Amino acid sequence: MKVSVIGCGRVGLVVAACLAKLGNKVVAVDVDKEKLRKINNGASPIYEAGLDEILSQVAIEAATDYAKIKESDIVFICVDTPSEEDGSMSLEHVTQAARQIATILRETKDYQVIAVKSTVVPGTTEEVILPILESSGKRAGLDFGVCMTPEFLREGKGVHDFMNPARIIVGEYDRRSGDMVSNLYQGFDVPIVRVDLKTAEMIKYASNAFLATKISFINEIGNICKQIGIDTYEVARGMGLDERIGSKFLNAGIGFGGPCLPKDLKALIARAGQIGYEPKILEQVLDLNEKQALRMIELLKRHVTLENSSIGVLGLSYRPDTDDARHSRAITLVNILLEEGASVKVYDPQAMPNFKELFPQVGYATADEVLKCDAILILTEWEEFEQLDYRGKIVIDGRRIAKAREARIYEGVCW
Ligand code: UGA
Repeated sequence: MKVSVIGCGRVGLVVAACLAKLGNKVVAVDVDKEKLRKINNGASPIYEAGLDEILSQVAIEAATDYAKIKESDIVFICVDTPSEEDGSMSLEHVTQAARQIATILRETKDYQVIAVKSTVVPGTTEEVILPILESSGKRAGLDFGVCMTPEFLREGKGVHDFMNPARIIVGEYDRRSGDMVSNLYQGFDVPIVRVDLKTAEMIKYASNAFLATKISFINEIGNICKQIGIDTYEVARGMGLDERIGSKFLNAGIGFGGPCLPKDLKALIARAGQIGYEPKILEQVLDLNEKQALRMIELLKRHVTLENSSIGVLGLSYRPDTDDARHSRAITLVNILLEEGASVKVYDPQAMPNFKELFPQVGYATADEVLKCDAILILTEWEEFEQLDYRGKIVIDGRRIAKAREARIYEGVCW
C-alpha cells in the first residue's frame, strides 16, 4: 500500500519505518528539515532500538511538502498533542496537520483514508478533525475516509512494540476506511478490534490510565510493605501469577514519568471535568505518583545532611532504553537536592545531553565518579547499573537494582 505519515517524532518515525519494512511505499512529512535530511540518508534522528537498522534498509521519501501525500491510500496523523497549563491537551499541531491535509484532499480524486494516530481525547477526531477535513469541500465516508487507530509504542521499544502488537485498534467513521486500515495490518496474527472513533480514542486513554493505576497501586502497597518489613517485589510476584492480575507493570519504585502516562492521565482528568465528572481514582493515581518520588529525599535525609553534601544520581531518563528525560523523576529530585544545598553529580548512558539542557549547573560524570559521592540515588533501571560496585556506599534505590544491595547502607524506596 502507499502510506504517508505526518510528523516524524518518535511515533511517526517508528510507524513510517515499520510500515516501509513491511513492504509499503512510505512518505514522511515534517517541518524539521534537518530531521528529514537524516531520514533521507537512511539514519535515525533519535535514539530508538532497531530504527537505524530499518532506516538504512528501506527507502522512505521524507519531505516538508504535503503535496507528496497525494498518492497515498492512507495518511497517518502522528503529530504530538502536548499538555496545556491546565492539563488539557493542545490540538494545535493536529489541527494544523488536518488543515494541510484538507488542502490536498481538495485535489485528490481517489478515496484516501485519514487515520489519526496522535493521542487525542474522546470526541476529537469526529468533532474537531473531521470538520477541518470536510472544509476541503469533500465529504467524510463518501469522498474520503476517517479512522482513529491509537499507538501502543513504548519509547525506546517502539520498533519491537510495533512489530509485536498485543492488539490493533481500528476506530472507523465508515466501513470502507476501517477495511483499508485493517488490511494494512493483515500480516499480524493478533485481534483487530474495530470500533467507532471515540471508542478507539478512549481505549488508548483507558489503557495508559490503567497502566499508571497499576504502578501507583503497587507503589502504595510498597509504601505499606516497607513500614512492616515486607519485600514488595515478593508480594508482586505472588500476586502477578494470578492471570487476572498479571505480572507486568507491578514494579514498585519512584513512579511513572515520561511524555505519555502523566500527560494522558491529566488530559483524561481534564476531559472528565468538562462533562462534570470527578475521576477520583485517576486523581489519586497522579497525586500518589508525585509524592512517591519525594520519598527518596526522606530516605536520603535519614543518612546524610543534604547541605554541602555531594549526592550522585544514576539514571536521568524516565525509563531505560531512551534518551528522553521529559517528566523524569530525576527532574523533581535534582531540583530539590539543589534547593537544599547539595552538590549534584549525575550519570545516564543516554539522557545526559537532554538533561543538560534543563540542568546545566550540575556535574556530568561517569558512573564511577558518581559512585564517589557521599550518597547515591538510583532513578532509572539501566541494565549497566547492575554491573557497578556499590560496596561501601550509601545507596537509596528507586528502581530495584539487585547489585546495589551490596552497599554499606541500602534503602529501597518502597521495599
Ligand atoms: C507508555 C505505554 O506503555 C505505551 O503502551 C504507550 O503507547 C505510550 O505510553 C504512549 O502513550 O505513547 P512509555 O511511557 O514510553 O509507554 O513507557 P512505559 O514502559 O509505559 O513506562 C512509563 C513509566 O512508568 C516509566 O517512568 C517507568 O519507569 C514507569 N514504570 C513502568 C514503573 O514505575 N513500574 C512499572 O512496573 C512499569
